[in-house]
Amino acid sequence: MDNQRDIQEIVRKVLEAMNGMNTASAASTNSAAAGKPVPKVAHVAVLTSLEKFEIKEYPIPEVGDDDILVKVEGCGICGTDAHEFRKDPFGLIPVALGHEGTGEIVKIGKNVKFDSAGKPIGLGDKIVTCMIFKDNPAITMFDLNKQNVGGADVYGLLPDDDVHLNGWFADYILIRGKLGSTFFNVSDLDLDSRILIEPCAVLVHAVERAKTTNILRFNSKVVVQGCGPIGLICIAVLRTMGIEHIVAVDGNPKRLEFARRMGACGTANYREIKGIEALTEAVKAACGGQLADFAFQCTGAPGGHSNIYKFIRNGGGLCELGFFINGGDATINPHFDICSKEITTVGSWVYTLRDYATTFDFLKRAQAIGLPIKELITHKFPLAQMNEAMGVNVRQEGLKVAIVND
Ligand SMILES: NC(=O)c1ccc[n+]([C@@H]2O[C@H](COP(=O)([O-])OP(=O)(O)OC[C@H]3O[C@@H](n4cnc5c(N)ncnc54)[C@H](O)[C@@H]3O)[C@@H](O)[C@H]2O)c1
Ligand SMILES: [Zn+2]
Repeated sequence: MDNQRDIQEIVRKVLEAMNGMNTASAASTNSAAAGKPVPKVAHVAVLTSLEKFEIKEYPIPEVGDDDILVKVEGCGICGTDAHEFRKDPFGLIPVALGHEGTGEIVKIGKNVKFDSAGKPIGLGDKIVTCMIFKDNPAITMFDLNKQNVGGADVYGLLPDDDVHLNGWFADYILIRGKLGSTFFNVSDLDLDSRILIEPCAVLVHAVERAKTTNILRFNSKVVVQGCGPIGLICIAVLRTMGIEHIVAVDGNPKRLEFARRMGACGTANYREIKGIEALTEAVKAACGGQLADFAFQCTGAPGGHSNIYKFIRNGGGLCELGFFINGGDATINPHFDICSKEITTVGSWVYTLRDYATTFDFLKRAQAIGLPIKELITHKFPLAQMNEAMGVNVRQEGLKVAIVND
């Protein structure tokens, strides 16, 4: 059986090299959904009012020559979804949410032959979407200028339209070529890894931003503050780069324990250690008696931002990535915290297309060195239990909560 697969793969590669044709479909006819009839209606979890998802049925539209119909396999719930659920800060209701999704191609337009990295793509392949560059559809991951998602749209945060299949909290999603969609063939990753791609790309980008300071180096001493999914993935990315001295700061003992399993060599619980002087001493002790060379701020708490400068040595660096939405003002002392210490600070906001490609390798490397990256997914719910799943997320009862279809 393995031999047969190897031969199939070799044939596919030879054909690909010969004429660049799309042969991915031939290689993946064993996939679960390929070949099965596509139903007439799709089910979409639509946020119809604050704190209320309803499962709506919509007809599955014709798949145009530039479009892809994907049978959704799973989608993680992000903090942004929770913000939309509770407060609708983007004013999108009614909206089909879910941007950390992945699934299998069940119909594909004749013009779609390659993904955004130039890899062949076809029926049966597993994909993830990245940004939608509607104002600049010709952009590719090989453009060196920074084009992160800040200036683009994503599936899962689009205004509703007559297609309706715009978010990954659904059983089918329609990816439209004409919109400037970007997508990647990730058939070589398992479902849990694929669900984690989007949040991991946030940290790949943050570490790339940190590297621009020239302060973060092999074996730097690093503080990661905030051990939600974002901080924990930050630790994993650092570990795959050969950084071993990582101190995690949080107030939740379970999350600090997970941080250790992810590779932090020390932890400090800011709720147990009262006062910033004592906390700084605890961080310093965990760093082997020195302040950190570099710090990543991964909480959305203004108090976290105020504290973090104290943990960094003179001439050190900081990456602030914890405020995806406006969390309010934070107080610092510019003299002590930045000026006299000569701290170099970078902000980090989501990711670029290129970071996505790096993330696929990161996920494989993290697992190869034994990091418990997939254990970040602590809860899985079927689509019908979208409201319950969001409840678990909002109450922070787990880490990454995911919707997984049959
Ligand atoms: N920059 C980006 O592109 C980007 C992308 C996604 C998420 N984010 C942001 O990253 C932040 C973290 O995301 P998450 O999903 O891990 O959230 P989360 O809420 O699950 O985790 C935040 C953690 O910070 C801890 N915390 C709170 N105050 C603290 C303090 N003063 N000191 C130490 N720890 C403290 C909490 O106990 C919690 O474990 C969010 O605020 C989110 O908006 C940014
Ligand atoms: Zn997200």
